Order: sequence, then structure tokens, then C-alpha cells
Amino acid sequence: EEAEKGGYDHFMLKEIYEQPRALRDTLKGRISHTRDKVVLDEIKMTAKEIKNIKRIVITACGTAYHAGLVGKYVIEQMVRIPVEVDIASEFRYRDPLIDKETLVVVVSQSGETADTLAALREARRRGARVVAITNVIASSVAREADDIIYTWAGPEISVASTKAYTTQLVAIYLLALFLAQERKTMAAGNIKEILDELKALYSKVQEVLDNDQPIKEFAEKYCRHEDAFFLGRGLDYAVALEGSLKLKEISYIHAEAYAAGELKHGTLALIVENIPVIALATQQSLFEKMVSNIKEVKARDASVIAVAMQGHTEVEKVADQVIYIPKTHPVLAPIITVIPLQLLAYYMAVNRGCDVDKPRNLAKSVTVE
Ligand code: G6P
Repeated sequence: EEAEKGGYDHFMLKEIYEQPRALRDTLKGRISHTRDKVVLDEIKMTAKEIKNIKRIVITACGTAYHAGLVGKYVIEQMVRIPVEVDIASEFRYRDPLIDKETLVVVVSQSGETADTLAALREARRRGARVVAITNVIASSVAREADDIIYTWAGPEISVASTKAYTTQLVAIYLLALFLAQERKTMAAGNIKEILDELKALYSKVQEVLDNDQPIKEFAEKYCRHEDAFFLGRGLDYAVALEGSLKLKEISYIHAEAYAAGELKHGTLALIVENIPVIALATQQSLFEKMVSNIKEVKARDASVIAVAMQGHTEVEKVADQVIYIPKTHPVLAPIITVIPLQLLAYYMAVNRGCDVDKPRNLAKSVTVE
């Protein structure tokens, strides 16, 4: 086992560091040489079928569900089709509104999660076309879906998912761009701009990984707290949910993710002196709003670590500490933003002496209901 960890203390850390490679593999062969077209030959839908999609439903569990939440923002923005995201164990029990004009996207690292597989079957029974995003070749989900986008993350051993999540995001971006390209809902120049940025992502992720010192320090300082909050707006809210799940899963710190605008409707009552707040402020159009939300928690003496894009130094005036991520297209920011959150969860858990790769009560793949 030690050999398999390749010199890292835990599989989770190894897998976090594998992300630049994994992201490159997920993109390989899926962008044209001229970088202006998405090549997704694995989607076998005809032009007419693509044109006829009226709704998209994404269903998954756990971290894969959080990737789906990013998918809602991204697909709605790029393809202008309404997207609903549902937890697989909820979706299947509520007589879902699915028909032949619905495209169902099932996301599952293992491809064996019982609820996700059951949701896939339910969707197909009701006549929907199902696209699977999965990491495991010939898994149950892959075998039963109509189309499969493999994530090529390589085996993920750690129970807490990291590289599977970021590669699921890439698969979702490719699917969104592909649908936008086929339905002509985006200008060619805009598609190219995002494809260029996607290609540049893995080196930006590497940059964040190389700059882990401030995260280690924050983790050391705050690892004894029993509560933490993650705040964000828009795509940052979806990432906040994943950051909060990572922390809960492996460090057993109670964490809550909140849409920052919703703070004053409840959570603000729980913000007390010194409580760690991780505030995500990568979305330019929402930046000023996030700064106001950070001020709200600072006024209650919370300890704020903010994640912002390079150049947005204004946030230094309100946060205690800022982690800067390299500039990218705002729509792609989640792939980079989640990296410091994965590292934060990891170092918090290590400092607390937790069994990082095998957290209590959790399984890598939940094949029973
Ligand atoms: C388990 C794992 C999670 C994972 C979820 C869904 O709960 O511990 O890390 O996100 O299952 O798994 P899947 O293989 O369907 O993505």
C-alpha cells in the first residue's frame, strides 16, 4: 500500500496532486486541433434529438451531485435549457417528470451507486435519453446509459473524492459546450475562448497546488474548531457545498455551506467570534456582493479566509487571509477554486489525527440503499 501511495502520506493527497494530469487526460482528444470545436464522438444523439431536448435533469449522489450543481449553472448559461439537479435517492421516489424530450445526465465516479443506478433505470423507463458521466469503464451505469462520457481520472482510492470531482466538472463543461455548439446557442468565438481556457487549466491547478503554505497555516490555526462555514454566490455556492462536504467527511468538523445572500435569513445567528469562515469570491459579477457578505461576518468577529481571483486585491481589506487563484474564465473557476478547499479539508483532518483515507462510517461506493 505504501508503494501505491507514491511517497504521499495518504491516497487523498496523492489524488489531489494527480489532478493536473487527470484534467489533461479528460480533455485529451475532445477538443479539435484548432481549439474551436468540442469533439464528443461518444454522444450518439442525432442533430434532431439534440434539437428536441426541452429539459435536462442531472442526478447523482454525494460529490457527484455537487458536480451536477455546477452543471446546472453552466448548462443553463451556455445552452439556455432549463436544468434541474436532483439527489438520486430523492429523484426516484417522487414520480419524476421525465419524458422523451428530457435528457437525463447521471454522474457517478464508481458507476455502481445503487440510488444513482436506480435513477438511471427510472429515467430510461420513462423514455428519457441518459448520458452517463463516470470514471469506471464498463461499470453498471456505463453499461446501461445511452451515451457515456468517461472522466479518465484513474482509480480513486480515497473515500473522499477529489480528482473524480474536478474531472466530472470537465466532462460537464464539454457536454455543455457540445450542446451549445450543436444548438448554436453560443458564438463560435466564445466557445473558443472557453476551450482555450480549459486547455490552460491544468497548469493553473498546479500553481495552486504549489502554493499550499497559507492553507497549511490556516488549517493548523483552526483545526480545533468544531464548526466552520463556507459562503459563496452563484458557482461559488456550488463549490462551497463541496468544500463543506470534504471538511465534514474527513475531519468531522461540522461545516455548513450557505448561499451568501441567504446568510441573514438564518446562519448569521451562528456566526460568533473566531469561527472559521471560508468565503469564495471568484465570480466577478458577484464580487461586490460577496465583499458585503464578508463584512457582515467580520462585523461578528469571524475569522475569514477568502478565495479570490488574482487581481481582486480589494478583498484583502475585509478578509483576514486571502488565497489567490490564477485568473480564468469565471465559468471555469470551480475547477480551481475547489483545490484549496480540498487541501484545507485534508490538512484540518491530518492535524486532528483523523484517518483521512478511510473516514468513519463512510464507504467509497454505496451499492446498497
Ligand atoms: C459515496 C462516496 C462519495 C461519493 C458518493 C457517490 O458516498 O463516499 O465520495 O461522492 O458515494 O459515489 P459515485 O461513485 O456514484 O460518484
